[in-house]
Amino acid sequence: MENVSPPWKPATHILLLLLLGGSYVNCEEWCYDKPSCGPNTWSSLGQCNGAKQSPINIETKKAMPGTHLGPIDFIGYEDRMRPQALVNTGHYAEIEMRSGAAIFGRGLPATYYLKSFHFHWDKNNSPGSEHAVNSKRYDIELHIVHTKNNMSAEEARKDPEGFAVLAFFLKKDNYAPKMNAWKTLSGFLESIPEKGNSLPLRGDFSLGGLLKTVDVSNYYRYHGSLTTPPCSESVIWTVFPDPIEVTPKVVKWFTQSLYFTTRKEGRKMQKNFRPVQPLKNRKVFYFKESKYPRDQTSV
Ligand SMILES: *[C@@H]1O[C@H](CO)[C@@H](O)[C@H](O)[C@H]1NC(C)=O
Ligand SMILES: [Zn+2]
Repeated sequence: MENVSPPWKPATHILLLLLLGGSYVNCEEWCYDKPSCGPNTWSSLGQCNGAKQSPINIETKKAMPGTHLGPIDFIGYEDRMRPQALVNTGHYAEIEMRSGAAIFGRGLPATYYLKSFHFHWDKNNSPGSEHAVNSKRYDIELHIVHTKNNMSAEEARKDPEGFAVLAFFLKKDNYAPKMNAWKTLSGFLESIPEKGNSLPLRGDFSLGGLLKTVDVSNYYRYHGSLTTPPCSESVIWTVFPDPIEVTPKVVKWFTQSLYFTTRKEGRKMQKNFRPVQPLKNRKVFYFKESKYPRDQTSV
């Protein structure tokens, strides 16, 4: 029996090496705020160096009329029980959704099911949106993430049309209408200061409540990528040019409340946007709903 080495020994060594390796190297795969892992270094990750990357600057004069596009139908967006948890992912603030809400419409090849939504921003007085319209950027950008026919994110990354992401701009304005949904959501951010923190939501607001004032009848459409590594080129983007006006306090809560890691490490969660990427060989389409659709119908 002396010759039989205990079976647990090698396993313990491997586990120890993994643990030590992880903390010894202490490098993040990707980040926003350090030269060693910031957006300039992402080109070696996934498809980040590809030809269909996001975000982009939308030049409105070059956008083509999207005759293949139609109005977007939103299902379940008003349901206050759908938002499930508010999470600090270490990259941004994300709201995880209970299953069932969806979008469809002419120009989308399937029904796309809502999975989550999140935000990108900069400092309090600096524009932090990812997309730009005629080189203009806004304070914050909201991304609402859906997958084709309710695929998992892993499946969607492998499909060139796996995701449909809706992008909305937030613009601070002293005269913005006071909206309870925004006040509630931004006030909650103080409760998730550190990476991994999460707050359960219990009917506090609906996604529809956040979008109440915005004109969804005009949008830009193009094919692009996730704006975070692995930057998979699997996204049908819809960018709404009409910004959501919010009070300055909302922008302040977003830009001041969170940290990328711990409070102790002190890296404030700010500037968590990817710079615009070249359009290359792509077209951007424009959809504008006719005010009098019935007048256009030939009988
Ligand atoms: C979507 O997928 C999730 C996760 O697999 C599942 O829990 C949910 O029931 C699905 N929803 C629909 C509407 O199919
Ligand atoms: Zn995003």
